[in-house]
Amino acid sequence: MSFDLVLFGGTGDLAWRKLLPALFQAWRHGSLPPGGRIVGVARDALTDADYRALIGSRLAVVEGEKRPSAQEFERFAALLEYQRMDLSAPADYQLLKDKLEARGAETVVMYLATAPGLFTTACEQIGAAGLATPATRVVLEKPLGHDLASNRAINAAVRGVFDERQVFRIDHYLGKPSVQNLLALRFGNALFEPLWRRETVASIEITMAEQLGVEKRGAFYDGTGALRDMVQNHALQLLCAIAMEPPINAHADAIRDEKLKVLRSLSPWTPATLAQGVVRGQYTAGQLAGGQVRAYGEEDGVAPGSTTETFVALRTGIANWRWAGVPFYIRTGKRLAAREAHIAINFRPTPHPIYRTPLGAANRLVIRLQPRDGVALHLFAAQEKRGAAAVQALAPVQLDLDFEQRFGAERVGAYERLLLDVIAGRLNLFVRADEQEAAWRWVEPIMQTWREQDERGEGPRPYAAGSWGPSAASTLVARDGNTWIEEC
Ligand code: BG6
Repeated sequence: MSFDLVLFGGTGDLAWRKLLPALFQAWRHGSLPPGGRIVGVARDALTDADYRALIGSRLAVVEGEKRPSAQEFERFAALLEYQRMDLSAPADYQLLKDKLEARGAETVVMYLATAPGLFTTACEQIGAAGLATPATRVVLEKPLGHDLASNRAINAAVRGVFDERQVFRIDHYLGKPSVQNLLALRFGNALFEPLWRRETVASIEITMAEQLGVEKRGAFYDGTGALRDMVQNHALQLLCAIAMEPPINAHADAIRDEKLKVLRSLSPWTPATLAQGVVRGQYTAGQLAGGQVRAYGEEDGVAPGSTTETFVALRTGIANWRWAGVPFYIRTGKRLAAREAHIAINFRPTPHPIYRTPLGAANRLVIRLQPRDGVALHLFAAQEKRGAAAVQALAPVQLDLDFEQRFGAERVGAYERLLLDVIAGRLNLFVRADEQEAAWRWVEPIMQTWREQDERGEGPRPYAAGSWGPSAASTLVARDGNTWIEEC
């Protein structure tokens, strides 16, 4: 199947950090369909050769086995072409059209890896130039808007040009193998399903902790913050994967219908839950493994006195029969003590203990996303120690599955998987407009509360870089008698 992949933002960060390395890996593994061409689009005046050299120099600094050899890159670079475009200039879209029509590929993917402010213009211009044919697919990178109204406006502009089945909204967390495995664990095995409910589950934790700060994206991040950057999309998509009902089949809309139901059942916010159930934080200077790092307020591009949050912890629930009363905790932040992402399903303790176990000890299933992905089931076993039998004490043990060890080199990275799915037209791992809108609707009261707090001079809570966030995050779970897992 021949394809043209047009990469708007072709010289930008996302293109050379994630997309081109992923395309290179797909090509190297032989999974990129033959007959492909990648057209980088940007404003700079570059020739094809300049573009290849630029991308070559970026990929040459990729670490480890993912770095192409010079010979490999030369062969891969034959797929790369460049088109100079000003995205607001209709004539430039005609030039692109000529280029695409000259080749007549069966599938044309328009990947908008640009500043989100350009989505609407780009879609409208693509439509006006007659570039949106049934063979075209459009890929939109987050953030799609900064609130419900702006998200709706983008979705309306996109819908004016494309059918929903042509629209691929990326949430790269859905491409992570660990998220695929979460769904496989739930819906490919009968074992856990009877336990996956309020009667047996005490609480659920989703943690996405980063050690990185805002890097070179200070100006973007300062207008975004952790709630929009991580919670509205990645965290809620993970929550959907945990909480959704089994879909009737594995088709995109069957899965997306179930996720939408979860988003619509998230507990509505009240003044009390907003006051007690949400913590926002911002990092101050501190010590990380790599040395001393500066405070968020001193990062390049960050406005003086900024109240943008770099940390969020919250407690919510799902108002349906399966999950009523089970707290769902979400925590994410930059400059935390470790790079660590996991989901923990905390089961209820045995109803009547006959062994001596530590207070509150209970089984736990941990789905690890990062840094290594795997699944660990925390159980209790009889103490194998002389004298222990007499006291009937139990020891914690773990069943541990490391996916990297099990599947090793055959594994497909998140962007590689998502790009191949776009080219193949598989929508399962992409987010539908109504899901996105439901997620924005749910986070809006939090944004509103923070705006009001800002007006009263109550900014985010400070936390030292290298810590696990403000202590209020621990208080949030401690009220239910819980703690966050710091290592798993
Ligand atoms: C992106 C956010 O969506 O996800 C970044 O914009 C964040 O701020 C990144 O660092 C985290 O992704 P991952 O895959 O490294 O956990």
